[in-house]
Amino acid sequence: MTMPLAPVLERIDAQFDQAVDRLCALLRIPSVSTDPAHRSDTQRAARLLTDDLASIGFQAEVHDTPGQPMITAHWPGPASDAAPHILYYGHYDVQPPDPIDMWDSGPFEPTIADGPHGRRLIARGAVDDKGQLMTFIEAFRAWQAVHGELPVKVTVLLEGEEESGSPSLEPFLEANKEALAADVCMISDTGMWDIDTPAITYMLRGLVYVEVALHGPSHDLHSGMYGGAVINPANELTRILGELKDERGVVQIPKFYDDVLELSDAEADQWANLGFDEAAFLASAGLRTPVGEAGRTSIERIWSRPACDINGIWSGYTGQGAKTIIPARATAKLSFRLVPQQDPGKIYDGLVAFLNRRTPPDCRWEIKSHGGSRAVRVGTESPYLEAAMRGLESTFGRKPVLMGCGGSIPVVGSIQRILGFDSLLVGFGLEDDRVHSPNEKFELRCFEMGMKSQAAILSEFAAMPTRRATPPRTTVA
Ligand code: BES
Ligand code: ZN
Repeated sequence: MTMPLAPVLERIDAQFDQAVDRLCALLRIPSVSTDPAHRSDTQRAARLLTDDLASIGFQAEVHDTPGQPMITAHWPGPASDAAPHILYYGHYDVQPPDPIDMWDSGPFEPTIADGPHGRRLIARGAVDDKGQLMTFIEAFRAWQAVHGELPVKVTVLLEGEEESGSPSLEPFLEANKEALAADVCMISDTGMWDIDTPAITYMLRGLVYVEVALHGPSHDLHSGMYGGAVINPANELTRILGELKDERGVVQIPKFYDDVLELSDAEADQWANLGFDEAAFLASAGLRTPVGEAGRTSIERIWSRPACDINGIWSGYTGQGAKTIIPARATAKLSFRLVPQQDPGKIYDGLVAFLNRRTPPDCRWEIKSHGGSRAVRVGTESPYLEAAMRGLESTFGRKPVLMGCGGSIPVVGSIQRILGFDSLLVGFGLEDDRVHSPNEKFELRCFEMGMKSQAAILSEFAAMPTRRATPPRTTVA
């Protein structure tokens, strides 16, 4: 028996305001995973989502982990073995809202405002990833309300540590291989090409995140009594970090580029034909001038070249007014975005050697790793990807773009390695959504099209002619 899609889409339209209200309830919970002070909030967010999935008819459970709770939920789906089994992944944790004084409204007080694409919802997590994970939960709700059924077997996995390096994820996948078995994983945590054009992301960069502190004098010193005659860790740290890249934007750590592959001609041509609007990309950051590795386009720099950035840096007195001291130590948080074949361990070791070769006199380094993940490429030839393409095309009336992404979603590689199947990255964010920044937003039009696309993709999965004809392949590079 086929279950028609049209009434499901009508249901999504009819219930739109309620869906926005449900998303707002989730956004009001400050589930910041990196900050232990928010432990009860992450638990509250996990409970809210578990109860919501249970209310639709899922067998939903919260699992404690050494870190943040993990949620699993199951929908048995059609009895037939031929029905595909889809694992849906999302993360309910968010980045810290800082700097709070740069927000126009409270980060955890979701606010609706008008913009060039209509109404938008502003809050931390609006697009990353609460709004996006609600696109599939709302699609399940609509399918269930209209047909009393989902057309495929569904397992849901919601994580609360994605924004803090997912320390509990791999052990959880290892321990729950059977419960999480599926044919393919669907993830909505990426972007569209533009407001009218859907996209499927097929490459993600990897990440190495490191905190380095340079310790010098035994205590903060009067900068008049000592200045000019003793080592200053803040001066030294900034000088050494300045040596990480040369004036052409090339990272100076030996062997850093050894494993970096050049883009194939075919891929370079395909990207050149996408019509990437560099000026709009820069304008979304309030900028005009492209910057980066010499001889590369902006799109290459984001999708296929590694990067090295300081994410935070502090030392000495940072309060109001003046305080004349030479600080005893200086600290920075650094990250490297990696491309296929680069090994996070080798990059970390390369950085440590780079710093150790430059240790100033009487100083010592304290180096802490905050984890790493490899870049991934998702195979672009699979019946599941084709089904997702059809679902997106029927919703938007336009073919989706296959695109890269500069960000990282470590679960994609972990699922491939541990559970043995591929992921589909179908996201509904826009470039100017201010992900990880003050005034993060999600266009309500993207939310609506996201819910409808998820409903349509479910229908396409159910209609797939054959199952497991060609298992999709991710290359964990
Ligand atoms: N949703 C993002 C990844 C992303 C960012 C996709 C921008 C598309 C556009 C994801 O939640 C994220 O931010 N990941 C972190 C991972 C890290 C903390 C391990 C990232 O990329 O910084
Ligand atoms: Zn995310």
